[in-house]
Amino acid sequence: MQTKKFYVTTPIYYVNDRPHIGHAYTTILADVLARYHRLLGVPTFFLTGSDEHGQKVQQAAEKSGVSPQHHADTTVVRFQELWKKLEITNDDFIRTTEARHKIVVQEIFQKLYEKDEIYRAEYDGWYCVPCERFFMEKDLDNGTCPDCKRPVERIRESNYFLRMSKYQDWLIQYIQDHPKFIQPDFRRNETLGFLRKKLTDLCVSRPKSRLSWGIELPFDKDFVAYVWCDALTNYISAVGYLSDDEKFKKWWPASYHLIGKDILTTHTVYWPIMLKAMGVELPEAVFAHGWWLMGDSKMSKTTGNVVEPMAFVDKYGVDAFRYFLMAEMILGQDANFTEEAFVRRYNADLANDLGNMLSRLVKMISTYTGGVLPGPDVAGADEVELRSAALEAASTMETSIANMRLDMGLTAVANVVRAANRYLEKKQPWTLAKQEDKRPLHTVLYTAAEALRVVSGLLYPVMPGKMAELRVVLGIRETVPDIGSLKEWGLMKPGTRLGEMQSLFPRIMPEAVPVVTGVSPVPAPVGVALVEYADFQKIQLRTAIILEAGKVAGADKLLKLQIDVGGEKRQLVAGIALHYEPAALIGKIVVVVTNLKPATIRGVESNGMLLAASVGKELKLITVDGEFPSGAVVK
Ligand code: MSP
Repeated sequence: MQTKKFYVTTPIYYVNDRPHIGHAYTTILADVLARYHRLLGVPTFFLTGSDEHGQKVQQAAEKSGVSPQHHADTTVVRFQELWKKLEITNDDFIRTTEARHKIVVQEIFQKLYEKDEIYRAEYDGWYCVPCERFFMEKDLDNGTCPDCKRPVERIRESNYFLRMSKYQDWLIQYIQDHPKFIQPDFRRNETLGFLRKKLTDLCVSRPKSRLSWGIELPFDKDFVAYVWCDALTNYISAVGYLSDDEKFKKWWPASYHLIGKDILTTHTVYWPIMLKAMGVELPEAVFAHGWWLMGDSKMSKTTGNVVEPMAFVDKYGVDAFRYFLMAEMILGQDANFTEEAFVRRYNADLANDLGNMLSRLVKMISTYTGGVLPGPDVAGADEVELRSAALEAASTMETSIANMRLDMGLTAVANVVRAANRYLEKKQPWTLAKQEDKRPLHTVLYTAAEALRVVSGLLYPVMPGKMAELRVVLGIRETVPDIGSLKEWGLMKPGTRLGEMQSLFPRIMPEAVPVVTGVSPVPAPVGVALVEYADFQKIQLRTAIILEAGKVAGADKLLKLQIDVGGEKRQLVAGIALHYEPAALIGKIVVVVTNLKPATIRGVESNGMLLAASVGKELKLITVDGEFPSGAVVK
């Protein structure tokens, strides 16, 4: 990733719906990355916005009996208000119904048409209305949409197509030559897996007779642009493509398009090919994060298990919400959102560790030195240790940000807070205060305060409000830190009067939250024969990545999987169809017995066996703790 500038984007959100935690997550992540880069002194541009055309919005407007524009104008406010509440510092908010965007989309279509990258043809095939996508017969899943599994409609109509297929080989080569382009790695493999099938040209228009709410094609007034081509263009129209060359040169290519895993193909296949056809450079990286699940199941409006960010923030505060989302999700993987998990982490990291550390320190400074920060004496081994831990956390944070592992940076900071609490325990300032010589006491109080200063700077992009409050309490004049101050020690001025003590993170009482649900412990099996280690060694276990997954015809419980074991492709059949949707398996790291004799199950060859844990009717695949290469030995 280049450091001379940082341009980060979120997906632009459909305005047919209320903002939920998935939207809030990506936008906070982009905000935190933008704030860190600003802190690092890197010129930063952060873009978010709204996707306002297409069938979903048209239908939602019809349902409410208003015009689509009116509908968009009223619903977009919900997003804008939420971003304000979440203290999002986006530099621009683009709406696809704005003239500045529509003009660019039309110019792009015109150019591509003139270059014969877009052509007109008859289409006869299947169409999924909710997904607004066309499918070939062979791509259907038992006659339903392969993405959303809803019924598809037979459609025969004239349309415009982008010559996507001719760029297939180029794109595969590009992805292989640019390993950072699609992140995390397993998402790159997923896209490459998708590109193994022959690409068909992309239908980039919709006849107005069927869908009028869109950007009119400049060369044919009977059609509007396909909503994804319209939406993806926001990433360049907002930064001056075809309207402000200087601005465009300054920001494009984007450093990161942050997206959810469900919109990978549009961003790593459609978008690069559109840009290539236009002759525009590709973004540096597309990063697909995982999904927030509710107690292990997908959030769904129909079942009512959706987290309302506004309500949550009202209950627990914006900073704690931001912190939880950033610390809890390992970037790239799915995470579970439950109120219990939130309260657990809040009480542990924020109330007990950080909040407690601050209040103890401030109380001691008030009691022993009249609320004035004392000056340190010579640093001993414990002081040097705490100082190194704090300064190392600053560099860990920097590399974690560069590697998109924010959760790792936050863990490093949480460890410094714990180390500082341990330091106070060990040094016992309350005992030192009884000594004649006050120098050891002053050194301890100063060292602990310095550690908190560095911590407050490192956490500032995640919790700007609370960290500014904390800095005021410590008597630091710059409520917004600068990066230099995080890499240096001894910047606090002895003699500074501390501010008023605040209860930064009051403890949340567990009785205020729902009871934790969980699987009851499984009794250990009795009377199982013991085996020799040598017997165990006969079984070869390896990590593998699932590349493709599909149903086995006529077998409800079976899935056919294509996996990669350290570069070797294998097919296996697994009895997990009742527990996993095929699409949810792609990219998962699993553990496989690789030296099992091949078997033919329901006529399908199976070379290996997946490991899974089960209790009652529940079953979960065994995986590894974090990202890991495939083919690794499991022992
Ligand atoms: N409008 C398109 C994006 C166009 S970008 C050129 C769109 N909008 S969306 O509002 O439906 O979804 C926006 C984002 O929210 C997607 O990245 C999607 O992955 C994300 N999420 C939706 N539900 C989510 C979770 N439960 N968890 C995390 N993110 C999820 O798609």
